[in-house]
Amino acid sequence: MIEAENLTKVYGIPRDRAVPLLRRADREDAVRNAGGFLAADGVSLSVSPGEIFVIMGLSGSGKSTVLRMLNRLVEPTDGSLRIDGLDVSAMSQDELRPLRNRRINMVFQHFALLPHRTIRENAAYGLKIRQVPAKERLERADQALRRVGLERWRDSRPHELSGGMKQRVGLARALATDAEILLMDEPFSALDPLIRRDMQELLLQLQAADQRTIVFVTHDLNEAMRIGDRIMVMRDGHVVQCGTGTEIISSPANEYVSEFIADVDRSRVLTAANVLRTPLVTARPDESPGDVLQRLENAEMNGVFVLDGADRVLGVATDEALARALRDGAATLDSCLVGDCHTVPPDLPIVEFCDLAGRHTVPIAVVDDDMRLLGVAPKAAILAALAAPRKVGHA
Ligand SMILES: Nc1ncnc2c1ncn2[C@@H]1O[C@H](COP(=O)(O)OP(=O)(O)OP(=O)(O)O)[C@@H](O)[C@H]1O
Ligand SMILES: [Mg+2]
Repeated sequence: MIEAENLTKVYGIPRDRAVPLLRRADREDAVRNAGGFLAADGVSLSVSPGEIFVIMGLSGSGKSTVLRMLNRLVEPTDGSLRIDGLDVSAMSQDELRPLRNRRINMVFQHFALLPHRTIRENAAYGLKIRQVPAKERLERADQALRRVGLERWRDSRPHELSGGMKQRVGLARALATDAEILLMDEPFSALDPLIRRDMQELLLQLQAADQRTIVFVTHDLNEAMRIGDRIMVMRDGHVVQCGTGTEIISSPANEYVSEFIADVDRSRVLTAANVLRTPLVTARPDESPGDVLQRLENAEMNGVFVLDGADRVLGVATDEALARALRDGAATLDSCLVGDCHTVPPDLPIVEFCDLAGRHTVPIAVVDDDMRLLGVAPKAAILAALAAPRKVGHA
C-alpha cells in the first residue's frame, strides 16, 4: 500500500542546494556545514494493506519527519514514494489534494478540536473539508462517535471532555472518513497509562473491523509491541531495525535497540511458539508399558505425551502409571492415560500460561486447533526467553 524508497529530508537549506550534498560521501557533515540538518536519511519502508506499521525511536530521531513525508506534508528532499501504485513523489500539489483529502488521514498527538463547535461537528469536520453533504456527515459522525463510545457527548463542547475523550473525538474524526490510510503521530502520548491502554485496545478493535493501513508513531516500545504488526526503529534519521515485535525482542540489531527493549514486558510479546521445543519422548497408545518406561528412564523424565496416528494428544502416561501397568501385565498404554496436562495454542502470550509451567509431570503442550502436538513449552525454555537478552557484542 505504501512503498517508500530512500526517503531523505534535509531541513534548513533549499532542495536544489541540498541534493548535490547528499551525493557526497561525507553527506552528513556536508549538510551540517551548509547550515542544514539531515533529519531522515535514506529511509525505505513498505507497508501492506491492513497492516499497523509502527515507527519508533527517541525524540528527534526523525519519526514525525518520515511520517509527514508519506503524505508530503513534509516535502522529501530525495527518495521516491508510491501509494497504492501511484507515484506520489511526482505529484503536483493539485494532484496531491484528493489523495490527502480522501485516501489519507492524519491523527496528531494534540487534536485541534474546534472549541466552539459540538463534539458531533468536530467529529464531522474531516468530512466537511471533504465536502460531504451536511446530513450524511452528521450521520457518519454519529456512527463514528458510537464506535469510540462517545455518542452521549455529541452535543457537548470540547472543554467539557477529558483528555482521553478528546483524543477519542480525534479518532472518531478519522474514522468518520473512509480514508484507507491513517497516519498517526503519537496520538496517545498525552494520556494517562490506563486510558492509553484503553485507547490502544480500542484502536485494535476498530482496526480488526476496518482493516485500514495504519502508520503509527510512538516512542513507547510497549505501545509499539502491543499494536504494531511490524516496528521500524529509528535513530538519528536512520532505520536501525525493522521487524515484528518478536523478531526485534529476540534478536535486537544493536546496542541501541537492546537498550530500548530492556524495559519491554517480554512475557506479553513472546508467545508459546517462541519457547516451542521438540518433546524428548512421545508414545503411541498401542505400545507396551515396559518399552515406554524404558525410554522415559533413558531420558530421565517422569511422564510422556501419548499421541494418536495424527499426533493428537490423547493424554499423559506417568512413570508411576506405566510401572503399575507393567506389574499388572497390561499390553498397551490404555490403562495409563490421564488428562493431566495443560495445552496452549502457539500464539498465546507467555504471560497467559507461564504460571502453569512446572505444575505437572510433563511440560505444557503446544497444540494446534485439532489438538495436534506441535511441541512442548518446558519451564527452562520459558525462563530463558523471559530473561533479558545478553547485550549484543558481549554474547
Ligand atoms: N522544520 C524543521 N526545521 C528544522 N529542523 C527540524 C524541523 N522539523 C524537525 N527538525 C529537526 O529534525 C529532527 C527530527 O525531528 P522529528 O520531529 O522528525 O523527530 P521525532 O522523532 O518526531 O521527535 P519527537 O519524538 O520529539 O516528536 C529533530 O532534530 C528536529 O529538531
Ligand atoms: Mg515527532
